Amino acid sequence: MTSPEARRPIVAANWKMNTGPHDGAELARAVAAENLPFAQVDVVLCPPATGLTAVAQAVQGTPIGVGAQHVYWESSGAFTGEISVPMLTGLASYAIAGHSERRQLFGETDLDVQHKTLAILAGGLTPIVAVGESLDQRDAGATLTVLRTQITAVLEALSPEQSAASVIAYEPVWAIGTGRNASPAQAQEAIGWIRDTVAAAHGCPAAERVRIQYGGSVSPENCEELLGREGIDGALVGGASLDAAKFAAIVRAAAP
Ligand code: PGA
Repeated sequence: MTSPEARRPIVAANWKMNTGPHDGAELARAVAAENLPFAQVDVVLCPPATGLTAVAQAVQGTPIGVGAQHVYWESSGAFTGEISVPMLTGLASYAIAGHSERRQLFGETDLDVQHKTLAILAGGLTPIVAVGESLDQRDAGATLTVLRTQITAVLEALSPEQSAASVIAYEPVWAIGTGRNASPAQAQEAIGWIRDTVAAAHGCPAAERVRIQYGGSVSPENCEELLGREGIDGALVGGASLDAAKFAAIVRAAAP
């Protein structure tokens, strides 16, 4: 069902709770100075909220996109500490929803992820919806069920056009920040299941268009093998994205 030439790979950097405005802008400039295949790959930097303005300025005039790591779905009001999608106007064109750290450490539920994804789309931004199973779930043979549940919770609120325009990141929890990446075969299999779930919900055209990344300990060492697999449309990169040269190597590996 997959036709790789129809989908532009997308590689996104998730800096997590690292870098402030100054060093974030410096890192962004270092990424921009790398010789990246912008004609073939979408490149996105997701700094912490306090770095969004500086990073957006640093990449101005380049094809690099900027993304938020977290948003709240209400537009404004008494929500201390939160950032809404309209508040990102002019700063970000992507936002991550459903990262496993938000789910595990901050209690984000499947319904929260649905609300966030809808708000991101309504604001004209591209959501990067992260899903993935824990090691216990994988060992229990529940990976497919977990992925289907997480994805369906979001898809059921979306139109086929909205799901086609979204980015999904398959991020097995046991591979995030552990140095233990999923094997290319495991990543490809899970991404195939996710694409099948999109097809079941919104039809084959939407499933063929939606971009599905792999995330979890992606590095310059393993990126070629992972990103060379059909159906894996790029990467969501944590640790390695804090080093411009390493991140650039991953972006280059995503080019078809
Ligand atoms: P990692 O993080 O590359 O450090 O494993 C990936 C992520 O959490 O998006």
